[in-house]
Amino acid sequence: MTQIQFLGHACFLIEFGGAKLLFDPFITGNSMAKQIDIDALEVDYIFITHGHQDHVLDAEAIAKRTGAKIISNYEIVSWYEAKGLSGHPMNHGGKYTFDFGTVKYVSAIHSSVLPDGTYGGNPGGFVVWNDSNCFYMAGDTALTYDMKLIPALCPKLDWAVLPIGDNFTMGMEEAVMAADFIQCNQIIGCHYNTFPPIEIEVSKAQQLFETQKRTLHLPKIGASLSL
Ligand code: NI
Ligand code: MN
Repeated sequence: MTQIQFLGHACFLIEFGGAKLLFDPFITGNSMAKQIDIDALEVDYIFITHGHQDHVLDAEAIAKRTGAKIISNYEIVSWYEAKGLSGHPMNHGGKYTFDFGTVKYVSAIHSSVLPDGTYGGNPGGFVVWNDSNCFYMAGDTALTYDMKLIPALCPKLDWAVLPIGDNFTMGMEEAVMAADFIQCNQIIGCHYNTFPPIEIEVSKAQQLFETQKRTLHLPKIGASLSL
């Protein structure tokens, strides 16, 4: 079992293999996440799926305070290294074993530019596993047939985080199809209701997953669950 805390939008703090993994920190810019204090977060690694502001906003401050290592694509890690932070660069199709487990950087269909206009490499997602648990963090992405490679190349997924807010990413209907492509029954939804263009009817999303005999978890901001 893995402890997962939702910190709003696409940001999650995950306890995994004895390490604290933070994904896509966008907290101080999220009016719905005012109760989260970024200075109180304990973090060992910061994963960044792509360079957009709503995924990187608080990464620099948290990395500076905690010394957390940034895991992302080569271009994004280089951008942070130039600021004096430490990182581990990856690129699509590659995997690497860290002290907490193995990470594979996988495809996402989206775009990626850093807040100052620097090229942010190609956007991606992460599959993370160790002997007891395996999960997929999709990042911002459309539904893509590449997702079918995940069950072929990685251990069986215990759970996955998929965007469901539509407009900038796939919507709830495609997320149901993605759950089928990745062969995973326990889905956590993200990237919805933060801004007007991605407002969705939450009950409709949960019903859609139920009809496919899958569970869509939508934790409140700050809440934790174990999967
Ligand atoms: Ni994005
Ligand atoms: Mn986004």
